[in-house]
Parts: sequence; C-alpha cells; structure tokens
Amino acid sequence: MESPIEFSEGVDGWDTIIFLYNSALKEVGTKIEILSDEFQHVHHYNPIEYIKRRIKTPESIVKKLRKNGYESTIDNMVNHVKDIAGIRVVCSFTSDIYRIAEMIGKQNDLTVISVKDYIKNPKPSGYKSYHMIVTVPIFLSDRVVDTKVEIQIRTIAMDFWASLEHKIYYKFEGNAPEYISRDLQECADMVSRLDAKMLSLNEAILEAKAAQEAQARMDAVDAG
Ligand code: GTP
Ligand code: MG
Repeated sequence: MESPIEFSEGVDGWDTIIFLYNSALKEVGTKIEILSDEFQHVHHYNPIEYIKRRIKTPESIVKKLRKNGYESTIDNMVNHVKDIAGIRVVCSFTSDIYRIAEMIGKQNDLTVISVKDYIKNPKPSGYKSYHMIVTVPIFLSDRVVDTKVEIQIRTIAMDFWASLEHKIYYKFEGNAPEYISRDLQECADMVSRLDAKMLSLNEAILEAKAAQEAQARMDAVDAG
C-alpha cells in the first residue's frame, strides 16, 4: 500500500507500521477467542456473540490527525491515533462486558493504557460501550514493539444502536437536526431498558432452571 503519510528518518515505514498493527490485531483477537473458549469450557456458556476487527483506513488516519491538529507523519500517527487497530467484542448481557474487561485486564502480556466506561457515563449522543486501549508486545526477529489496540466491548443492543447512529450521523456529517439527535437519544434509552430487561430475564431463567433441577433431585431421592 502506498503511504499517505510523510516519513522522517529513523522511523519505521508505512508497511512495517501496518504490519505491526495487523499482528497486534491477530494477537489480541486470538487472546479474546481463547478467553471465550475457556469460558465456554468452564461455565458452559459463551458470553461473546461475535468479534469484529478492523484496521483504520489511511484516509481516516489522515482525517483524524488533521481533525486533532497534527501533521500527517508516522510519529504522530503512532503517538496520537490510538484506534488504528480496533477490535469490537459484542456480548449477550451488560454483565458480560465487565467480565470480559476484567479477563482482558488480567492478561499478563497486555498492558491497559486507558479505560473509558461509556456505559456508566454514556456520551451526550446516547452512545454506550466499554473502551480499553491496550498494548501488546509484537516479537519481531530483532526487537519487540509494544503496539496499541482499541478494544470496544458492548452488548448486541448497544452495537445495533451504535451502527445505525453512525450511519445517520455520517449522512448529516455531524449536523443532524435537533429532533433527530433527540430521537436517537430516546432510542438509546430504549436500548438501555432492553438490555436491563434481558439481563433480569436471563437471571430469572437461570433461577427457575436451578429450582427445577433441585426439585428433580429431591424427587429422585424420594423415589429411591
Ligand atoms: P474518536 O476520535 O471518535 O476515535 O474519539 P476519541 O479518541 O475521543 O475516543 P472515544 O473513546 O470517544 O471514541 C472512540 C470510538 O468510539 C469512535 O471511533 C467510535 O467507534 C466510537 N464512538 C464514540 N462515540 C460515538 C458515538 O457517539 N456514536 C457512535 N456510533 N460511535 C461512537
Ligand atoms: Mg475511532
């Protein structure tokens, strides 16, 4: 791929940088998949519905640098664009989000650089998600490079809202009429209520199932 970004001497080239971010995405993606498999193995339940990965396009890297007042250099890109490699983990229930975040935080070879909890503190738009910026060491043949990855953890309902809001927002290039922003915020409230309802429904189902199983054991004892 051709570099859209200026070079300065002594810095890795565009291809090397993108290679590093792709490797980091693989490393973190595999880690999360293993955590998910282990969870399934131990608890017979999979908290992860799906995982999406992406590398930011050169155009959006340049756009973000410009938006934040930085020149398009490799140095600025590495230091100031924290979501070049991005992973989105979509879970079933809100409680799963914190479980997954905790499991990620405990991985010895990942360093958590920052956390933003937009579930406890939603954005004014209504956006909810749990964000972590981590670094993962990438072992090259002659050196180790700590590389940043943005992890976004959210429920299916939050993902549904965020995907549609993103599309609408871009149609208006940020200047959506007031009533549309308000309607989107209302939808975000509906999403929160839906998530809360699904979580309590799941808890009720688990309790009912446990009670049924306990009763079946008692019946078996009585019969024996
Ligand atoms: P960006 O410049 O947008 O990356 O913001 P930031 O560096 O301040 O980080 P922040 O944690 O606020 O947002 C990072 C990412 O979260 C964005 O790139 C989006 O993917 C997502 N995001 C944040 N706010 C919103 C929102 O209001 N709507 C949607 N759909 N996504 C959002
Ligand atoms: Mg982003």
